[in-house]
Amino acid sequence: MNRIAVLGSGTVGQVLADGFLSHGYDVMRASREPAKLGDWKSKAGARASTGTFAEAAKWGELVVLAVKGTAAESALDLAGAANLAGKTVIDTCNPIADAPPTHGVLHYFTTLEESLMERLQKRVPAARFVKAFSCVGNAFMVNPQLAGGPPTMFVCGNDPGARDDVKKILVQFGWDIEDLGGVEAARAIEPLCMLWCLPGFTSNRWTHAFKMLRT
Ligand SMILES: NC(=O)c1ccc[n+]([C@@H]2O[C@H](COP(=O)([O-])OP(=O)(O)OC[C@H]3O[C@@H](n4cnc5c(N)ncnc54)[C@H](OP(=O)(O)O)[C@@H]3O)[C@@H](O)[C@H]2O)c1
Repeated sequence: MNRIAVLGSGTVGQVLADGFLSHGYDVMRASREPAKLGDWKSKAGARASTGTFAEAAKWGELVVLAVKGTAAESALDLAGAANLAGKTVIDTCNPIADAPPTHGVLHYFTTLEESLMERLQKRVPAARFVKAFSCVGNAFMVNPQLAGGPPTMFVCGNDPGARDDVKKILVQFGWDIEDLGGVEAARAIEPLCMLWCLPGFTSNRWTHAFKMLRT
């Protein structure tokens, strides 16, 4: 699996696209307006390309979804269910509502009974969604360097083979991994973003990541 489609013109899309390139993968990065990724493409080198969501989803052997949470379902529609069928889709998205945080606590448009990734999995049943990278700031997504050693990435998704695909990538990217099983675990993983952001919003501390300590 060497062709990685990264759906997202934002910071997460850029950091993960660059991370995949640095680890030897070919990357197509996508936007509704691919022309705005021209600067990135010219700097990223010969193994980087750009396209629409549908072009990238069709080309990629593995797909990364890195779009605004409120637009994630629309982005899947644009990518096309047929282009995603059978593919591992890394879902980095958090269901952050448009309302501003209250005392540093983000608002979500989902509930604790249905996560965003469950909605995405229902929208494209033939895709193999895996939650990953959602619980850490983009500066630490690839090769995180923290005083306490490798932090823990929490992953889940219904397809064990897809989770294995993502775990191999996470090992390459320098992560400890906690595999939490099926898609419902996203109800617990997605709110970790609220916790991660809280010290940032309240006291401008953004340089941390979660680590699970085990016996
Ligand atoms: N920023 C972080 O450090 C961080 C950390 C962990 C997780 N996340 C999550 O990662 C995701 C990406 O975050 P980000 O900060 O890189 O970017 P973002 O600003 O949240 O999202 C940008 C992307 O969303 C797409 N988009 C926006 N509105 C759309 C619509 N109506 N239809 C289709 N696509 C639409 C944009 O498409 P175009 O290219 O066409 O404009 C662009 O590709 C988010 O869900 C975020 O919660 C972020």
